[in-house]
Amino acid sequence: MDIPTRLCKTLLISSVVLYLAFISLSNRYPNCPPSHFLTPTFLEISSPSSSLSPTSNTTRQSTSNPAYPPTVLSHLAFGIVGSEDAWHHRRAYIESWWRPNATHGLLFLDQPPSENLLPWSRESPPYRISRDLRTFLNKSDVTPQRIANGIAEVFRQVDHANLRWLVMGDDDSIFFLDNLVEILQRYDHTKYYYIGARSEFVLSNFLFSFSQGFGGAGFILSYPLAKDLVRDMDNCLMRYSHVVAADQTTMSCIADMGVNLTPLEGFHQIDLRGDISGLLSSHPKVPLLSLHHFDMVEPIFPTMDRSQSTRHLMMAANADQSRMLQQTVCHDRRRNWSFSISWGYSAHIYERIMPRSFLQYPIETFQAWLPAPGPPFYMFNTRLPSTDPCEAPHVFFLDTVKRKADDILTVYRRAWPRGMPTCFFAGNHSADYIHKIRVTSPAKKRLEIHRSECCDIVGVVGNKADVKFRECMDKEIMA
Ligand SMILES: *[C@@H]1O[C@H](CO)[C@@H](O)[C@H](O)[C@H]1NC(C)=O
Ligand SMILES: *[C@@H]1O[C@H](CO)[C@@H](O)[C@H](O)[C@H]1NC(C)=O
Ligand SMILES: *[C@@H]1O[C@H](CO)[C@@H](O)[C@H](O)[C@H]1NC(C)=O
Ligand SMILES: *[C@@H]1O[C@H](CO)[C@@H](O)[C@H](O)[C@H]1NC(C)=O
Repeated sequence: MDIPTRLCKTLLISSVVLYLAFISLSNRYPNCPPSHFLTPTFLEISSPSSSLSPTSNTTRQSTSNPAYPPTVLSHLAFGIVGSEDAWHHRRAYIESWWRPNATHGLLFLDQPPSENLLPWSRESPPYRISRDLRTFLNKSDVTPQRIANGIAEVFRQVDHANLRWLVMGDDDSIFFLDNLVEILQRYDHTKYYYIGARSEFVLSNFLFSFSQGFGGAGFILSYPLAKDLVRDMDNCLMRYSHVVAADQTTMSCIADMGVNLTPLEGFHQIDLRGDISGLLSSHPKVPLLSLHHFDMVEPIFPTMDRSQSTRHLMMAANADQSRMLQQTVCHDRRRNWSFSISWGYSAHIYERIMPRSFLQYPIETFQAWLPAPGPPFYMFNTRLPSTDPCEAPHVFFLDTVKRKADDILTVYRRAWPRGMPTCFFAGNHSADYIHKIRVTSPAKKRLEIHRSECCDIVGVVGNKADVKFRECMDKEIMA
């Protein structure tokens, strides 16, 4: 092999781990072969219709089946697989989003609930006990197979009259129902779909599979896929009884049916530890679909415990799911401040003008899920937390949500004093005195997220800054 060829080969191999790295490197080595063969499983992130077809750009809009009315919540059935032991504290997570008598589905436990869980809460999904697979599979630890088999159990036990989509999750998965329905309206439920997300943590994908939907983030099967998978489930459990992970078992069975993952960026496995506020403050421009692992990370609001945090976040979600965590950036030219609002969760003020291209990267407030030999740790770029007063934000978290006739007012309250001098070179305009940021957004769902919203700093009154959201203007630049 000559040197350029070897270089290209190296580039291609590394791109399997990090596609974006390949893009930037191949810009510098333009003679490498095209990378299109890598794209189908790697880049199909946000668009339901992106595919190998070179014309896919022209078909990015809805692919739902016009012969049917639009999908609504009653077309979805949820299968939650959990354990009796964890349910005592995890039920708070599920009850935060479950809508009794409106959400269809079942919770599967490994053993009957103990007395202090009875009578069974009406706010919880109805429960069933999972089938005992130990004799069938002739082994003692059948947890991965029990979870995979949950698909068959929920499918057989829910009403099929209106069933279009089967949504599987863990007992600590938090779903955003309105956004799920809205996303699923874009897909044809009569086709074979396996929709989900990879882990944020590169090593999780490497060790389990880049091809699987991670179950804690939740994954969705269209009716025909669920039906065929359930028909083959016993064979599949036997075929993959050696596999030690449930999601990998499920993915393997589905792959054998000729179906691959359609990844969506709004699902979050949260294979992270510590303070995930940095990630939640720079969410990509797609509807938020799920969050997971709330036991494993610090409470997402620093002054609350985990279950309070969950309910607090849902308070915003109940006012407007379409804007949840959507990052909106605007600038105060009089003071040289940048505002970055993650709607319904947090707000940041920087004491200099920061372009949106920079603010889109999460601040790495969190740690990796597992010790990893070295970077890349995450499937996205991050910014390191900074002690430079020109780079470190003033941090505010959601305080109150108020719905008015035409607007929603969300108020974000300062979390802690920043404890740094002022960014001097941007004019020495300290934001230390700002205690609250009041954000007004339209009381109208924003379903088309082809572009972020824009905002204006309408005033600073006393220790409060007022920000108003609006659609961006043509040619508007956030830098
Ligand atoms: C659900 O419906 C049943 C009867 O259909 C009713 O008794 C129950 O109170 C309802 N639960 C909730 C939480 O609305
Ligand atoms: C079950 O597994 C044990 C060892 O793990 C083996 O000795 C036995 O033959 C197996 N039984 C069946 C029915 O395959
Ligand atoms: C904003 O910052 C720039 C330097 O980036 C400085 O030249 C300018 O004077 C500042 N403007 C104000 C209003 O302080
Ligand atoms: C910068 O602003 C602070 C107050 O915000 C003030 O105490 C300090 O003197 C200012 N520094 C300069 C060099 O103007």
